[in-house]
Amino acid sequence: MPELLHTLHVDLTSVTADRSYAIQIGRGLIADASIWQPLVEGRGVILVTDNQVGPLYGGAVKAALTDVVPLTEVVLPAGESHKDMTSIQQILDAALADRHERGSLFVALGGGVVGDMTGFAAACFLRGADFVQVPTTLLAQVDSSVGGKTGVNHAMGKNLIGAFHQPQQVVIDLDTLTTLPAREYAAGLAEIIKYGLFLFARNVPGKDYERKRGNLGCNAEKKQNAARYSSSYADRYVCEAL
Ligand SMILES: NC(=O)c1ccc[n+]([C@@H]2O[C@H](COP(=O)([O-])OP(=O)(O)OC[C@H]3O[C@@H](n4cnc5c(N)ncnc54)[C@H](O)[C@@H]3O)[C@@H](O)[C@H]2O)c1
Repeated sequence: MPELLHTLHVDLTSVTADRSYAIQIGRGLIADASIWQPLVEGRGVILVTDNQVGPLYGGAVKAALTDVVPLTEVVLPAGESHKDMTSIQQILDAALADRHERGSLFVALGGGVVGDMTGFAAACFLRGADFVQVPTTLLAQVDSSVGGKTGVNHAMGKNLIGAFHQPQQVVIDLDTLTTLPAREYAAGLAEIIKYGLFLFARNVPGKDYERKRGNLGCNAEKKQNAARYSSSYADRYVCEAL
């Protein structure tokens, strides 16, 4: 039985654009058609995953997208070593081959590697298409899926090619963590501890998160800070639910 535990709103409105989005946190969400319906109504979907996450959760997502046409699935090789332009090319080739339009929705089902690459492919596709993050590692749920940083590595260094492109929504299904290897889980916990220290250093005690976020204002730098605080806030709700 799907259970939506929290919905957070990342407010990124400005005079030129509204890139605000919601972060939904719950259990069983990826198989819940009512989560997907408002996101995919009247448009095609490019579902991007990797060859470890796809066999585990790709079927549940596709089953919830039965009426979507065209529905394209791109399964990339898992791991940081494949976070490169070859994978981006593979995503864009598949989207173009199936004649997707700018209104199509990219869906990132996987860890931070899949999320960063899908977001970047969406930013490039026909000069910018929407994308949804469905993070399946703890690290991606509390960090990389939030904030809009997308991209790939280059032989000269990590994350050297990329773009800021905010997701249209983030869907965090805590049930996906049940299959996460212990080492990956520990990596996510380390990130949570880091955020805890960050908030202490900035003197933002727990109950003050909402107020602090509300006071962050609307210039570009403050927007970026708002995204970081929202990520910290997501940390807190994910932690409470675990
Ligand atoms: N965009 C950002 O703001 C941001 C922030 C932090 C990190 N990152 C990026 O995130 C990447 C690291 O992400 P990561 O730690 O999620 O690694 P990852 O995406 O490589 O996932 C780790 C491994 O776990 C597997 N996996 C994922 N979910 C699973 C599940 N539910 N069950 C079983 N296996 C699963 C994956 O297939 C992979 O083999 C790096 O490339 C880093 O640069 C981006």
